[in-house]
Amino acid sequence: MQKVIDYLRKNQSRFVQELCDYVRFPSVSAQPQHRQDLQACAEWLLKHCEAIGLQARLCPTDGNPIIIAKTPRSPSARRPHFVVYGHYDVQPAEPFDLWKSPPFEPRIVGRSLFGRGASDNKGQNLAHLKAVEAFLKTGTELPCDLTFVIEGEEEVGSKNLATFLKSHRAELRCDAVVISDTGIPSLKHPALTYALRGIAAFELIMRGPSRDLHSGIFGGSVDNPAMALSQLLAQLRDKHGRITIPGFYDGVAPLSAYERKQMSRLPGSDSAYRKFLGVPKLFGERGFTPTEQRTARPTLEINGLTSGYQGEGSKTIVPAWASAKLTLRLVPNQNPAQIIKLVRRHLAKIAPPTVRLEIKSGHGAEPYLVSPTGPEAQAALRALRAAFGHEPVLIREGGSIPIVNDFKKHLHADTLLIGLALPDDNAHSPNEKFNLDCFAKGQLMGAYLWQELAK
Ligand code: BES
Ligand code: ZN
Repeated sequence: MQKVIDYLRKNQSRFVQELCDYVRFPSVSAQPQHRQDLQACAEWLLKHCEAIGLQARLCPTDGNPIIIAKTPRSPSARRPHFVVYGHYDVQPAEPFDLWKSPPFEPRIVGRSLFGRGASDNKGQNLAHLKAVEAFLKTGTELPCDLTFVIEGEEEVGSKNLATFLKSHRAELRCDAVVISDTGIPSLKHPALTYALRGIAAFELIMRGPSRDLHSGIFGGSVDNPAMALSQLLAQLRDKHGRITIPGFYDGVAPLSAYERKQMSRLPGSDSAYRKFLGVPKLFGERGFTPTEQRTARPTLEINGLTSGYQGEGSKTIVPAWASAKLTLRLVPNQNPAQIIKLVRRHLAKIAPPTVRLEIKSGHGAEPYLVSPTGPEAQAALRALRAAFGHEPVLIREGGSIPIVNDFKKHLHADTLLIGLALPDDNAHSPNEKFNLDCFAKGQLMGAYLWQELAK
């Protein structure tokens, strides 16, 4: 093991350069104009996997290719097998003008590597590849078999991976799945995540007059879609932060007193959190702490809102339409399809007769909750402790990784969520960065993990 650790230390600066190469691909899955960039990024990753000694192939899908890369299998007895999942696609970088340096021209400042996707998820999955490289290049025997599954559609709901898992069930059968795509409260608080929220996405398009109208000539005699949509949206949440869709909270599993107590022990204060977010006052569902609100309670968010004229100067119109993109974050035992049914029923009831409302439902994922007491979770905690030199914490996360439920359904495998992102990594925001200490510790964590899991 010492050889592995020495190798990781000696090669850090090359690893950082490789991460820069990886981040340079604008692999934005939401935007069709980047299709070729995703392909190029996948090909780069394939070559990289081969260069470090993995047996790798690109699997085409109806969307972006999936990379499968395996450690050389031992001819002797069956060893434990783990799947390591990651994604090479990234969120859109917009708004570009808020980036201090271009999002796909990685820049290192102190211990931070800036670039879209540096933290979510390229730096995190590269850390695992580097850990395995250290075993393979030093001739150190890995105590288990590993299969990397790195996809290019996580940020758009992993549409094609579920089908792939189904058709490759035998090849991917494993003892557990390992994912580093979540966060840690700080470098002194490495974390094992035991719950993720689910998600249900939908879009509202509200149409009024057949064209933009002169607001002086016609305004007052016709409903304004921007106003009607705002009023509709405003009805979906009350002033106490409760979602008003009938049935929305039915079946929501309450938080146990024990869990609430554990959550209250996590580091950080409300006032520091408020300052960090730059808001004048925190807001959330009444009766819950910010940690509970953002990880263990369901929410509704407007992700985008569009209507009328937003260019320079003024343009006096009644816009012909208004639209909004929304997502609901879900907790056990909410189901995205059922929730979307409730949303449709409620909106149809409250939409005014003066406009036409179209509702498009998008991607969905169920919430995830796994017991942190099993032997695999214990092994992960030992690996975290060894790599970070601090006692790990158990956390819930508010984000979603849709595919974890499919790993359970199709491979019958639980997922170990051991992320490396810091709260200030700016995932999905301008100036995303990855901390290079997280990168290095993540590699160590990977190395220890395979040992601990095989014990
Ligand atoms: N890495 C995130 C998920 C995440 C972030 C989980 C932080 C826990 C803590 C992932 O890349 C992501 O952003 N997922 C999307 C999924 C969606 C597009 C279906 C999300 O949560 O918005
Ligand atoms: Zn993401």
